[in-house]
Amino acid sequence: MTSKKLQRARDFERKYSPYVAAELPRFHVTGAIGWINDPNGFAPYKGEYHLFFQYHPYDIKWGPMHWGHVKSKDFIRWERLPIAIAPDTEYDKDGCFSGGAVEMPDGRHLLMYTGVRNQRLKNGKIESYQTQCIAIGDGINYEKYEGNPVIRAEDLPEGGDVHDFRDPKVWIEDGKYHAVIGNRTDDTSGSILLYESDDAVNWRYVSKVASCHNRYGKMWECPDFFPLDGKDILITSPQEMNAIGLEFHPGNANICIIGSFDRETNHLIRENTQAIDYGLDFYAPQTLEAADGRRIMIGWMQNWETVGSHLPNQQFIGQMTIPRELSIRDGRLCQVPVRELEKYRASKTSYKNVMITGETSLQGINGRFIDMTVTVRPGNESSMYKWFKINVARDGERYTSIRFKPETNILRVDRTQSGLPCDIVNMRDFLVATKNKELKIRLIMDRYSLEVFVNDGEQAASFVIYTPLEAKAISFVADGTVLVDIEKYDLEVK
Ligand code: FRU
Repeated sequence: MTSKKLQRARDFERKYSPYVAAELPRFHVTGAIGWINDPNGFAPYKGEYHLFFQYHPYDIKWGPMHWGHVKSKDFIRWERLPIAIAPDTEYDKDGCFSGGAVEMPDGRHLLMYTGVRNQRLKNGKIESYQTQCIAIGDGINYEKYEGNPVIRAEDLPEGGDVHDFRDPKVWIEDGKYHAVIGNRTDDTSGSILLYESDDAVNWRYVSKVASCHNRYGKMWECPDFFPLDGKDILITSPQEMNAIGLEFHPGNANICIIGSFDRETNHLIRENTQAIDYGLDFYAPQTLEAADGRRIMIGWMQNWETVGSHLPNQQFIGQMTIPRELSIRDGRLCQVPVRELEKYRASKTSYKNVMITGETSLQGINGRFIDMTVTVRPGNESSMYKWFKINVARDGERYTSIRFKPETNILRVDRTQSGLPCDIVNMRDFLVATKNKELKIRLIMDRYSLEVFVNDGEQAASFVIYTPLEAKAISFVADGTVLVDIEKYDLEVK
């Protein structure tokens, strides 16, 4: 049954989204209108890839969360489906928060999400009660289970906090349902809890897969836990992170813990901890296993700190990253855009061994819908260049730059001059590695975004740039002499 709230959201979207369509990126997922945050329920269902997202269609601000819905056969072209669920019951009246999805053995589609119910206390404060709920459907319409919530405060381990208990990521393994869920612990930081179930309705608490102990941020949101190349990987998005060198930035951050899962203790033994994405705009990623075994990740290409900054009159805010293929190389997480993107490449322009000293533009190298790889090496054996820079989305006054300094190995992406009249963090530095003094930088641009992939995925960094589309020139600048190879394609996704 479609509730009034759900019907209203679906009608609103149908009525007003045609006015927004022309503003949207070509191949990055957004809402049809209004606000989105985290990816939810990213999973295969009946041979297609479904993606839901935190959605408030009525405004470009966060509000009572619905689940928007799209699906795709190739991760690049997405078909929009009706909004899946709305906050329309007593236990989720203040939001259907993030969660996961899975195809049930009988072919039905299971959504598992956090139901949020707020309550005002005597002293005027609002307290949020977070429990885990399910809805079951056919890939378009979903019914909430009458026995919701299926995981409640009483199912928490000792010290667990029902006010910060959210974002179940569900999967099926060995004939059972499993879910990891973020939870605040009594040391005020966070843990990732593991639950299991035979029927998706009755859940048992199993263990704490990993705990923060106030080391990487506080509350850990939006966990995902999966095997990859012989390792077990936990990804999560910590709130209130303190910066750690150039690896972790403060605020809402993201981390990946690489290790092995001890099946006796049901605990993750850590081997390495790193950032997932080094950009300004990345949070709450989720993964799925594709039909061919690839592990694909998608993230919210935005950050809580900057969501109020956008163009005047904009009618949508929030987009997803390009889905990325994950792998482990030399004990580190690597990510590259899904290979399906290559089908949409058109009009190749390439250059080999171009010498750059000062600022140079090259015939055919421009655009805001592009896939471009630039390989940089020193042009002069006896004197190393001081820095090399690529300026994109450029016109007379605006640009966003990607600058590499070989002396420090720091790559800096700077959107200060990108044209956004808001005083927010606009720059990020991170460490990269050269191989035989060579650095490879791949840039994916889709209207208002720039995703940077270094050395075939050793690092990824995502940025939103709101530069008007007329600014589409690209230039290369060096202090010293460099040689570059460039391969650039336009991306045509209709
Ligand atoms: C992360 C998050 C989740 C929550 C959702 C609410 O961005 O805070 O923890 O479920 O957003 O929209």
